Amino acid sequence: MAMIRHILVATDGSDKAQEAVALAANFAKAVEARVTILHVILHGVRADEMNRLARSEHLVRSVSGVVLPGQEKTFVSMNDLFQSTHVDIGETVAVLGERIAEDAAEEVRAIGVKDVSQRVEPGDYAETVLAVSQEIGADLIVVGSRGLGRLSGMVLGSVSQKIVQRALCSVMVVR
Ligand SMILES: Nc1ncnc2c1ncn2[C@@H]1O[C@H](COP(=O)(O)OP(=O)(O)OP(=O)(O)O)[C@@H](O)[C@H]1O
Ligand SMILES: [Mg+2]
Repeated sequence: MAMIRHILVATDGSDKAQEAVALAANFAKAVEARVTILHVILHGVRADEMNRLARSEHLVRSVSGVVLPGQEKTFVSMNDLFQSTHVDIGETVAVLGERIAEDAAEEVRAIGVKDVSQRVEPGDYAETVLAVSQEIGADLIVVGSRGLGRLSGMVLGSVSQKIVQRALCSVMVVR
């Protein structure tokens, strides 16, 4: 039957991904589908991309509170936090990923979706989204058209492009 029961939303924490999360949540509510949020842990992220995280002020505060407990120093940007000699980058991107997924899950619940799960996984971005979609039996993947990167001129980022090309289920690209 052509019904949407389980929606997988992928977020990198960018504004466009956040729009995808909100749209997926509203759609899921309307069709009474469950939602799984997936964030693939960031690797090799450039400084300018770090500063494109949505709600970055809140993220900087909550992430530095975990990776640098008890330190009074306040970081003004993610980039600033990442450049601190005291932080472990691996731990920082993992904690950041948990915050991104948690914030997205909260938003989906606030919109009124009852069954919401979240996952944070390491790996290749698109490959991991595709693998998790298969694993959970998602019948729709929702992604943003762009993410944290800024190769201007491109309509789709490389991650959303690969997902559209390779997914076995339907894909909604939020523009
Ligand atoms: N690490 C990630 N975890 C989960 N979803 C992601 C991740 N990276 C990208 N996405 C999803 O893919 C969408 C498009 O992002 P994409 O990375 O393709 O664009 P970009 O960052 O603008 O370009 P590029 O990465 O090619 O420089 C995002 O809105 C998000 O839905
Ligand atoms: Mg990207």
